[in-house]
Amino acid sequence: MRFAAAIVLAIVLAFCSQVEAGVWPRSRPYVVGHRGACGYRPDHTMASYQLAVDMGADFIECDVVLTKDLVPVCRHEPLLSDTTDADAKFPSLIKTNTIDGYNYTGVFANDLTLAELKTLRARQPLPERDQSFNGLYPVPTLEEYIALAKAAPRTVGIYPETKHPTWHDSLPIVKAAQTTMSDIVLDVLEKHGYKGPVNSKAWSRQPAFIQSFEVGNLKYLSRKTCIPLVQLMDDFTAAIPDMPTKTYSDLMTDAAMKDIATYASGVGPWKNTLVRAKAGANVTANGAGLESTGLVERIHKYGMQLHPYTFRDEAYRLTYGSFSTPWDEYELFFDKMGIDGAFTDSADTLKTFFNEKAKEQGRLWNTGAVINRAGRPKPHNPKC
Ligand code: G3P
Ligand code: CA
Repeated sequence: MRFAAAIVLAIVLAFCSQVEAGVWPRSRPYVVGHRGACGYRPDHTMASYQLAVDMGADFIECDVVLTKDLVPVCRHEPLLSDTTDADAKFPSLIKTNTIDGYNYTGVFANDLTLAELKTLRARQPLPERDQSFNGLYPVPTLEEYIALAKAAPRTVGIYPETKHPTWHDSLPIVKAAQTTMSDIVLDVLEKHGYKGPVNSKAWSRQPAFIQSFEVGNLKYLSRKTCIPLVQLMDDFTAAIPDMPTKTYSDLMTDAAMKDIATYASGVGPWKNTLVRAKAGANVTANGAGLESTGLVERIHKYGMQLHPYTFRDEAYRLTYGSFSTPWDEYELFFDKMGIDGAFTDSADTLKTFFNEKAKEQGRLWNTGAVINRAGRPKPHNPKC
């Protein structure tokens, strides 16, 4: 009997290692390297992306903005001042722009050609993080980021986000070219062989999700591509940029979820919207005082994956300050709530969590549930 159990365990472990080494981790949730491995290197640099790959990320994330010559590049925002030395290098281009109702002052990517942008060097925007890599790395293009993912020694997916697509589409340079940000990004992805639908053979060879906080551009993309789309959601009360009379709580209802499932394969909510304090509970007790807001259940009810953001190792960034360690936070969100992936600044911490859990459980991580939830949903486009 013991011999039979050992054989079964050996088979399972062999399958585990095969899955880990093979084309795609279908057996556990995804590690999404948020801006690469921005817990350790300046955001959205090739060094940050490479480190995330080296740490075991399944996907690396690029927030896409456009240059003056309409080249898609990886930056957290069109405003370059927080993450590069743009203000010092191009002081004459400092201006104020209103984007989605907020004023920003500094140098913007859309005022620099790619050649000008390539003279910039990235810096770590968070003062508490390692500043020793500042000034070393240029801003990568979307194509350079894709090349890095494709050159990885195992399958590594891409997860581009269209940043402020309505604002980008309103720029004279975009209008003059008679195109849209969505088309510019999609052209690059298609040129590099990305296809959908989610979990198809073609997708599993080169996995990609396109994400956005806006609704209109995702609906537009859903009519043009089978590449799976992810609807990002901000806090309950935050306005939806292209539907300013509505807030994200309007996207979280049953009816809204049903609609999202017609164009998206997944939802990327802010992690704090997934849980709330139980009435009268002490929320500082390792998540014990938290309960689901119902959003996780609603997203899964409509067959969509759930990839919340952003998981960070620093204690003060753990959800509601209610956990002692990132491990405790991951246990709540993955073990108890069943999320399907997470954006993390520290891909190594999440990968280690999965590895240790797999060993602890002596079986594949959440096998059935993840494969089922991540399975191909009803295509959002009949052509898919
Ligand atoms: O895209 C997921 C997460 O990155 C959303 O927030 O502001 O870091 O792009 P942000
Ligand atoms: Ca993002």
